[in-house]
Amino acid sequence: MEKEAKIYVAGHRGMVGSAIYQKLKQEGYTNIVTRTSKELDLRNQHDVATFFENEKPEYVFLAAAKVGGIVANNTYRADFIYENIAIQSNVIHQAHVHQVKKLLFLGSSCIYPKLAPQPLKEDYLLTGTLEPTNEPYAIAKIAGIKMCEAYRSQYGDNFISVMPTNLYGYNDNYHPENSHVLPALIRRFHEAKVNEVPEVTIWGTGSPLREFLFSTDLAEACVFLMNNYDEEQFINIGVGEDISIKDLALLIKTIIGYKGELNFDSNKPDGTPRKLMDVSKLHALGWKHRIDLEEGIRLAYADFIAKHC
Ligand SMILES: NC(=O)c1ccc[n+]([C@@H]2O[C@H](COP(=O)([O-])OP(=O)(O)OC[C@H]3O[C@@H](n4cnc5c(N)ncnc54)[C@H](OP(=O)(O)O)[C@@H]3O)[C@@H](O)[C@H]2O)c1
Repeated sequence: MEKEAKIYVAGHRGMVGSAIYQKLKQEGYTNIVTRTSKELDLRNQHDVATFFENEKPEYVFLAAAKVGGIVANNTYRADFIYENIAIQSNVIHQAHVHQVKKLLFLGSSCIYPKLAPQPLKEDYLLTGTLEPTNEPYAIAKIAGIKMCEAYRSQYGDNFISVMPTNLYGYNDNYHPENSHVLPALIRRFHEAKVNEVPEVTIWGTGSPLREFLFSTDLAEACVFLMNNYDEEQFINIGVGEDISIKDLALLIKTIIGYKGELNFDSNKPDGTPRKLMDVSKLHALGWKHRIDLEEGIRLAYADFIAKHC
């Protein structure tokens, strides 16, 4: 990307989009276009077409999506499939119509088959049954990846997809019911500490293994891939190490300084037993994460305190 190129970051107020926006600014990109969902509802085909016609962006980071944790995904199943398919279809198609030089689409590690071998290699997509709780979201995301591949093969559009692991970081969602596991734990431990609650209940058994990547690392990887990767095959972005939910909870508890007990509620769903990315392809290209989990949780907790307390 040329430093003065017009770059559209869709979803620039979200955790991923805001990190990409900041990273682009830091790297000296000067012509970044943004719209909030109020200014431009990406589910609206006509409005998206008008936006591309007027703005004619040269590069697009598609980080706008309906995103949520296990409960939100399972409860709002229709919204997750409809909104994500609408947003990505409109943006990807208009990027083609208006000859965008390159588009980056974000998938997610939770769209690999539920029982895929670990670590997850890019080749494992669509080799088995999906995790039922987030199947509508996964089907939408898979459609987005396949759209990018199809527009590349039929029209030669340089549309790439990336597959990030679980993310956390600045501007994360700390909603009591709709957030992902790591921000949800930060919030619960913080509130328990402040309110001197003797016990914190954690959903599931604590045994599932998860991998976490800090948002600014993801943004750096996305900008790196926009500049250095032009293949049809999507590419995993992660750290290549995982941790059990129980150990994650203990780490967050220690960082926050909560002194009470932990209780695991095994009536709540666990989700996929393990999700660890094979990041050998990304490492071979020359990119590796910088922020380890402990440092990242400290940074995220400070951001949570600054914005939510
Ligand atoms: N969070 C994770 O752990 C994770 C992991 C892997 C992949 N990803 C992927 O990363 C991408 C971004 O996720 P995120 O965590 O940054 O989500 P987020 O914080 O919830 O942000 C989503 C953004 O999408 C925008 N948006 C939603 N609906 C829209 C609509 N109808 N029209 C226009 N904009 C709309 C929102 O804009 P407004 O703020 O203006 O309303 C918001 O800024 C998603 O594709 C997700 O699948 C996330």
